[in-house]
Amino acid sequence: MAPIDIFVYLVFCGLVTGDYHVNNDNIFKVLEKIGTTVSRETCTSLSPDEELDIAVDFSKWEEYADLAIYNSNYLSAQIQKHGGSLETFHESLCHDLVTNLVVTAKPEILSGVVEFAPGVFKNYELFAAFAVNTNGTVESVELGNFYNYTNDSLVNEWYSVLRDRNYENVAIDRTKTTFRNGTIIEADLLVARRDDGHITKPYYDCGGGHVWMFTYSSPILGRNTDGSPKFKGVATIDIELTDKDINQCDLEYEDDTVDLFFNVFRGTHKCPIETTCHFRPGLGFKVGGYFCICNEGFYYQGLYSGFSGEEVEKATDLSSFRCEMKHHGYRSSFGSDSHDRQLGRYFPLNSDDSDLYYTNPSMK
Ligand SMILES: *[C@@H]1O[C@H](CO)[C@@H](O)[C@H](O)[C@H]1NC(C)=O
Ligand SMILES: *[C@@H]1O[C@H](CO)[C@@H](O)[C@H](O)[C@H]1NC(C)=O
Ligand SMILES: *[C@@H]1O[C@H](CO)[C@@H](O)[C@H](O)[C@H]1NC(C)=O
Ligand SMILES: *[C@@H]1O[C@H](CO)[C@@H](O)[C@H](O)[C@H]1NC(C)=O
Repeated sequence: MAPIDIFVYLVFCGLVTGDYHVNNDNIFKVLEKIGTTVSRETCTSLSPDEELDIAVDFSKWEEYADLAIYNSNYLSAQIQKHGGSLETFHESLCHDLVTNLVVTAKPEILSGVVEFAPGVFKNYELFAAFAVNTNGTVESVELGNFYNYTNDSLVNEWYSVLRDRNYENVAIDRTKTTFRNGTIIEADLLVARRDDGHITKPYYDCGGGHVWMFTYSSPILGRNTDGSPKFKGVATIDIELTDKDINQCDLEYEDDTVDLFFNVFRGTHKCPIETTCHFRPGLGFKVGGYFCICNEGFYYQGLYSGFSGEEVEKATDLSSFRCEMKHHGYRSSFGSDSHDRQLGRYFPLNSDDSDLYYTNPSMK
């Protein structure tokens, strides 16, 4: 296919769309952040977390989202049955909820939190139980004592977006409990569903695990005195991106796969023009997960298995990653190369096989 045909083909197949647009300044900024800006050294525990302006495909984690929804709905029910706050709820139960979540869903889920709006939890102004899987131990700590998650100058999107949402149309489920002593309690409970939650963009967790991750959060709900829904906090799951590969190679026209990042990184490799980018799986959430392999008609002088994308990304000068053009013997349209000829690399062609190029005399 000639290049112009390929382009027409792409347009007809609908592949040349905004989603796959590669000359996106934003994506290069994102790559730069992934590559260099943020590290354990450059962010301190309470500075705003770095955020990447890309979306992730959450569909793979929807079942884990249900664990956060379970926690939020459980706490919503407690709050609604106990007059709007958790006066009698023991804080150790909150630690149990998040610990159990991580124990159940690790390693896919790195951590989880239950975080209450000011004044909801007993006599603590702020209270947040946070459990994280570190080094084989699921550890739960309280954050509200030293970390003000209601402060909007911090990037606490998982909290602030849900706090500012309107819950007028949230689902209501009727529940009925018959106790052993015969007492029956019926309650209409406000319940969160998957769509009531929020998925953050990937961000660098400066305060905690020092990893790239994203968060799904589900609202904890109570009622105002008139019965209308009132935000009471959030329950979350955190998913680590460290082992999720970034594919920077070009999106081929016959390739209709969509990766975790909706293909936004496609076409952002830095392979020289006479090479082709080959995706190298397994590098994780890092820039440079590819090899640049010489195109047909080009060769690399020396031991060669493709240039490492990691090296290419680091380089300011790409001249050491060059492939050389193969010459088509004396008939080459590019002319003959006396240097190569002196090295004995060229073999005159006879008229029968003038289209063949011999790199090795034994082939003849
Ligand atoms: C993780 O566990 C290993 C083995 O138990 C230990 O050597 C290492 O110091 C631990 N690392 C951290 C950060 O706790
Ligand atoms: C909010 O966070 C910023 C940045 O850490 C801090 O400077 C500010 O004092 C905080 N505001 C309150 C009211 O805690
Ligand atoms: C947390 O920050 C908010 C908003 O910046 C502020 O109004 C509130 O007083 C702070 N809470 C605590 C306990 O410091
Ligand atoms: C029956 O049991 C429930 C749950 O323990 C309790 O709230 C309620 O007060 C009890 N009712 C009577 C009449 O003892």
